[in-house]
Amino acid sequence: MLIKLMPPTQQPTLLIRSHELGEGQSKGFIIHDTNLFIVRHQGKVMAYRNRCPHQKVPLEWLPNQFLDYDKQFIQCATHGALFTIDDGLCISGPCNQKSLTSLSVEERDDKIYCTIPKT
Ligand code: FES
Repeated sequence: MLIKLMPPTQQPTLLIRSHELGEGQSKGFIIHDTNLFIVRHQGKVMAYRNRCPHQKVPLEWLPNQFLDYDKQFIQCATHGALFTIDDGLCISGPCNQKSLTSLSVEERDDKIYCTIPKT
C-alpha cells in the first residue's frame, strides 16, 4: 500500500484499522518514501523498515507476505534469513545476529499508527 502524504513529521501516521491486521498477518507500506511493514504476533503489532540487513533489499516474498510458512518468523525472500517477530533479530542466515530496524507503532481506538522518523 502506497501512502503519499505531507513531508515526514514526528506525528503518528494512520496505517490501517486494527481489524485489517489479523493474528499472523503482515502488511507493507511506503510512507514518505520509507518502505516499512507491520506484523501482528500474539496480539501485539510490531513495525520494521522493509530492508534486510544483509543486502539492504526488501524482505517480502509477495506483496504483504513477510512471514515464514509457519508464521513464526519474519523471513527474507532473497536468502532466507529468519528474524524474530518480537524484536527483529536475525537468528538464522547470512546476517545472523543483526537486526531489522524497528519503528514506533501504536494501536488505539481500533487503528494502527506508525511514526516515521525524519531522515
Ligand atoms: S538479502 Fe536478506 S538474507 Fe540476503
